[in-house]
Amino acid sequence: MPSHTTPCIVVLSCLLLLLSLSQCQGLLSPTFYNKTCPNALNIIRTGVNQAVSRERRMAASLIRLHFHDCFVQGCDASILLDETPTMESEKTALPNLGSARGYEVIDDIKHELETSCPGIVSCADVLSVAARDASVAVGGPSWTVKLGRRDSTKANHTIAETLPGPFDNLDTLISSFANKGLYARDLVALSGAHTIGQAQCFLFRDRIYDNGTDIDAGFASTRRRQCPKNTGNGQLAPLDVVTPNSFDNNYYKNLLQKKGLLQSDQVLFSGEGTHSIVLEYARSPQLFEADFASAMIKMSEIQPLTGQNGIIRKVCGAALHSSI
Ligand SMILES: *[C@@H]1O[C@H](CO)[C@@H](O)[C@H](O)[C@H]1NC(C)=O
Ligand SMILES: *[C@@H]1O[C@H](CO)[C@@H](O)[C@H](O)[C@H]1NC(C)=O
Ligand SMILES: *[C@@H]1O[C@H](CO)[C@@H](O)[C@H](O)[C@H]1NC(C)=O
Repeated sequence: MPSHTTPCIVVLSCLLLLLSLSQCQGLLSPTFYNKTCPNALNIIRTGVNQAVSRERRMAASLIRLHFHDCFVQGCDASILLDETPTMESEKTALPNLGSARGYEVIDDIKHELETSCPGIVSCADVLSVAARDASVAVGGPSWTVKLGRRDSTKANHTIAETLPGPFDNLDTLISSFANKGLYARDLVALSGAHTIGQAQCFLFRDRIYDNGTDIDAGFASTRRRQCPKNTGNGQLAPLDVVTPNSFDNNYYKNLLQKKGLLQSDQVLFSGEGTHSIVLEYARSPQLFEADFASAMIKMSEIQPLTGQNGIIRKVCGAALHSSI
């Protein structure tokens, strides 16, 4: 069953069971914590701002962490669960291992929240608000985050292995976003998060050494200096070669010049299905920012656990109920 049909079925069964509407999936609200934890949003913003001022790259890492959470059984903080003897984590799946970052930022914020209002704010909501605050912290757009997600008790390592990756071709990228109810336009807009952040050498080595026609020769040669053929797997390069530290539309302008770092970046321009969207965003930073915000909202509302489903974890790394 395609995942986008699920919410309708859940809403229907909620109505049939005469449960209150707020318990039905998808009914999140921006004021969810206004009475129960009025300081929640301030606490999260403060934590994110501190982390980003310590290390600007953390903004990109927090956005990616939210993305990798939402694409695996919905935005339920499953990515934060540590491995146990009976459960493989998502952290150890290849797309996350050694590259997913920001766990300790989320853990610290959650600790503050538990001190202020124990048992109230989910780790899934922390991830979602943190992604928005990370965008704002580096000059990107803001948007209203609806709240009320709850946390899963399980991770799914197998699904995490199938997260979209840097070697994917355009058809694969489009279909993995479509599986989550996101359009090609959302894919292109969300990829714009690569206006900040860095990638490790082993993720783009093939692209810079194979003398392909889809990469600028000078750009490839520059990148080779920091990414040797046989060593230096973990050496970092900026995903946006022009303005790596500011949230802008240079990422798309780079693609027009075949200066995308990852294959999954460059195919957005070389592929027919998304070529014109890249051109639109390269022309209009305002359009990119507006679409990025909308796509982040859509992504952050993939299959949330709400109502009686899931739990509020006490710490984000373990599936233990928070008790007051
Ligand atoms: C909820 O809290 C936010 C942030 O403190 C505030 O801006 C908003 O007006 C409040 N909304 C309601 C309905 O109380
Ligand atoms: C992970 O998800 C897949 C696909 O939905 C499912 O078949 C599998 O049982 C899940 N694994 C765990 C450990 O829950
Ligand atoms: C790419 O070009 C360089 C220099 O022109 C050459 O040394 C190398 O063998 C080429 N690599 C491939 C995979 O063709």
